[in-house]
Amino acid sequence: MIPFNKPYLTGKEAHYMYQAVYTGKLSGNGVFTKKCQQFFEEKYGFKKTLLTTSCTDALEMCALLCEVGPGDEVIVPSYTFVSSALAFVRQGCKIIFADSMASNPNIDAEKIEALITPKTKVIVCVHYAGVACDMDRIMEIANRHHLLVVEDAAQAIDSYYKGRPLGTIGHLSAFSFHETKNIIAGEGGLLGINDERFIRRAEILWEKGTNRSEFFRGEVNKYGWVDTGSSFLPSEVVSAFLWAQLESMEGIQNKRKMLWERYYEGLQPLAEKGFVQLPQIPDYATNNAHMFYLVCRNLEERTGLIQYLKEHDVLSVFHYLSLHKSEYYTSHNTNIPDLPNCDMYADCLVRLPMYYELTVDEVDRIINWISSYYSVK
Ligand SMILES: Cc1ncc(COP(=O)(O)O)c(C=O)c1O
Repeated sequence: MIPFNKPYLTGKEAHYMYQAVYTGKLSGNGVFTKKCQQFFEEKYGFKKTLLTTSCTDALEMCALLCEVGPGDEVIVPSYTFVSSALAFVRQGCKIIFADSMASNPNIDAEKIEALITPKTKVIVCVHYAGVACDMDRIMEIANRHHLLVVEDAAQAIDSYYKGRPLGTIGHLSAFSFHETKNIIAGEGGLLGINDERFIRRAEILWEKGTNRSEFFRGEVNKYGWVDTGSSFLPSEVVSAFLWAQLESMEGIQNKRKMLWERYYEGLQPLAEKGFVQLPQIPDYATNNAHMFYLVCRNLEERTGLIQYLKEHDVLSVFHYLSLHKSEYYTSHNTNIPDLPNCDMYADCLVRLPMYYELTVDEVDRIINWISSYYSVK
């Protein structure tokens, strides 16, 4: 069976985890946490980063930092993971769902402005499959309406918009190191801060509402409870694991991109015949090879393809169910919007196996099975 995902280990994870254990500093905000945060700040130019226990946690920190609550509205694409919306729902906000583009599952920037009301406070954009949203357009709309922008960059590590690293463009951003991502820590995340006014409060929220970070830097002579917050920081064991992955990032990315290109070239003939649509990467975006997906012509064909591949020992999966049609949203809201592109991706998108240890030979076998599924039609 070719699995859908297989977490890749560089071989150094256990070594660094042992170092963390051996030095006796196991709680968060130690040497490995600082190394990882510095890596992101220096390589990509964030004003500040904070490791978190998940991307969901980083998004919750974003919602707290945006200081939103009951009566406020937040614009979120419906084609996304629950956490992009949930972080703001937990603050009591109303979610206004936006549609995807026809050519790409990302939020359709041209449809955002019509959703803005005097209650709107934040736009959340999700870089689906690590491919950038149209950030110039989104930032221009946000600036004109005095809104904050949160980039859900869960899938977008090491990917760019017009040469700018994803996660560094909005006011705040959130990354994931869940085991399905390019760079993993089992569970893990990162908060990216691009607007200096959020840094002090972010450190406090991160450390259970205390100013402990300032105390450790010697800026205050005692620390205490100063704000709300939670225990958002991971232990050093998790950060040590992540550090091993970050050291090998270039090799991981190169291999994934090679596999992605192989899929793309091999499936081109099927796309030319109109059986499937391949991912479309806009000129302003790069591809970080987080995911290889196809868009089938309808739900029935997609269900058939997933089943056919399974019968031939290949695990492929569909992705998000439209959040605006979810049990939670429909039971808490009366006006359910019509978002046809989102529904189309929910019905037609299929993700193919993509992981570091996948071989070229396996990719070729998967391409052949997909081609044979369509040739029998
Ligand atoms: C777009 C998006 N946002 C948020 C998350 C949540 O990430 P985590 O599992 O690290 O909390 C995911 C998870 O896959 C995701 O795809």
